[in-house]
Amino acid sequence: MVKQGRVNSLVILVLACFVAGCVAASSSYSVTDFGAKGDGVTDDTKAFLDTWNATCQSSVSSVLFIPAGKTFLLNPIVFHGPCKFYIRVQVDGDIIRPGKLWGGNFAHWLLFSHIDQLSIVGSGKIDGQGAAWWSCKTNHVSFSSSPLSCFCLRQSHVSAVSSSCFLHAFTSFGFFRSNAQPVPTAQVAGLRLISSPQMHLVVGFSSAVRITGLTITAPGDSLNTDGVHIEQSRDVVVSDSTIGTGDDCISIGTGSILVNVSRVTCGPGHGISIGSLGMANSLAQVSDIQGGYGYAKNIIFESINLTAVMNPIIIDQHYCANNVCAEQRSAVQVSDVRFIDVRGTSSSQVAINLNCSQNVACTGITFHNVEIQPAQRGGQASSYCFNAHGTVTGIAIPAVPCLMP
Ligand SMILES: *[C@@H]1O[C@H](CO)[C@@H](O)[C@H](O)[C@H]1NC(C)=O
Ligand SMILES: *[C@@H]1O[C@H](CO)[C@@H](O)[C@H](O)[C@H]1NC(C)=O
Ligand SMILES: *[C@@H]1O[C@H](CO)[C@@H](O)[C@H](O)[C@H]1NC(C)=O
Ligand SMILES: *[C@@H]1O[C@H](CO)[C@@H](O)[C@H](O)[C@H]1NC(C)=O
Repeated sequence: MVKQGRVNSLVILVLACFVAGCVAASSSYSVTDFGAKGDGVTDDTKAFLDTWNATCQSSVSSVLFIPAGKTFLLNPIVFHGPCKFYIRVQVDGDIIRPGKLWGGNFAHWLLFSHIDQLSIVGSGKIDGQGAAWWSCKTNHVSFSSSPLSCFCLRQSHVSAVSSSCFLHAFTSFGFFRSNAQPVPTAQVAGLRLISSPQMHLVVGFSSAVRITGLTITAPGDSLNTDGVHIEQSRDVVVSDSTIGTGDDCISIGTGSILVNVSRVTCGPGHGISIGSLGMANSLAQVSDIQGGYGYAKNIIFESINLTAVMNPIIIDQHYCANNVCAEQRSAVQVSDVRFIDVRGTSSSQVAINLNCSQNVACTGITFHNVEIQPAQRGGQASSYCFNAHGTVTGIAIPAVPCLMP
């Protein structure tokens, strides 16, 4: 019983941190006190590392403070944990990457790793200055290194993750999750991420992550600039954000489960994609996603507004990255995918495309009140199915007669 009481009070303390910003028993470390100039020219990497060191060593909950009205130039940096207590990174100022291409082997620019209780908040702008990379890729010029992400947090003890970068928000304290109102282990809120060389924010090997109020912006023709990429993670919520990039708005990769995307506006870009399945642009709500272990199931797209979207609803099990693929490798089993209250316009003639594998049928694909009109006046919107099973209730425009029971 005594043990139980202790556990509860710890949870309350941590909750108070999230709600009240840890006003009690906290200390603050400003990067300018550690020598950061914030003039947009001086390399402030060492000052940030020193500030991080102090913050992370602190034995009370602490704030790493990045003041407003300044622009801090940072080279690749790893904010490494574990830290002693809860950390808040208050990003009020802007952060910029040098515009040049890096030599060396950086998969990331700003990486938060091995930190269990972390909150990154503020309205600062994080500018990945990706233009040089995009132009290399567009012109097929090879370069020795490629930072995948503008900004990411990752879990530590994961080997065999070579070219990507992962978020660390691993729940190592059991009591976190025993509360009826789970406390997120990582929170990212309010930031503006722009022009990443590749993905803007990566969440990997993590649980209980809350991402909200982000604005992510990259040109529509910038290659591989995903907004948020989630992989090998569970209980991730992305909400109230605006994401426009040259690639996926939100991409959900292998091993993701219990992902909820709500009130997110996407575009330009490729919308919300799951595994090798690209599905639905614009607002979406997704839950219970498991990919990479052979299936994608229990997925809900609900209350979605489509505006002149190309391929608004597409399941493509013949997808080949780089046009090179061994046809009919082990197909992912797609089941229980629901489209509810999806409305708007399609810029492609095929508005509903269920192109499933010949070997493994898609099952439990359901439509309830789906109404997609052609974006162009006098245009047509049609549906296509291959080996897809499911049902329609309420309205379905275009009709999906090819869906088998
Ligand atoms: C962080 O602080 C510790 C203790 O003061 C020191 O030993 C270590 O070298 C510092 N690390 C960095 C990266 O400054
Ligand atoms: C996802 O989040 C939204 C908004 O918080 C909530 O209304 C909805 O019930 C959640 N969906 C699931 C399946 O948990
Ligand atoms: C859908 O988006 C369009 C264009 O942004 C907007 O005019 C319309 O009000 C939206 N509809 C709903 C139901 O949100
Ligand atoms: C379905 O996939 C096959 C095989 O890749 C492709 O040839 C066909 O064009 C696709 N159909 C549609 C409507 O996308």
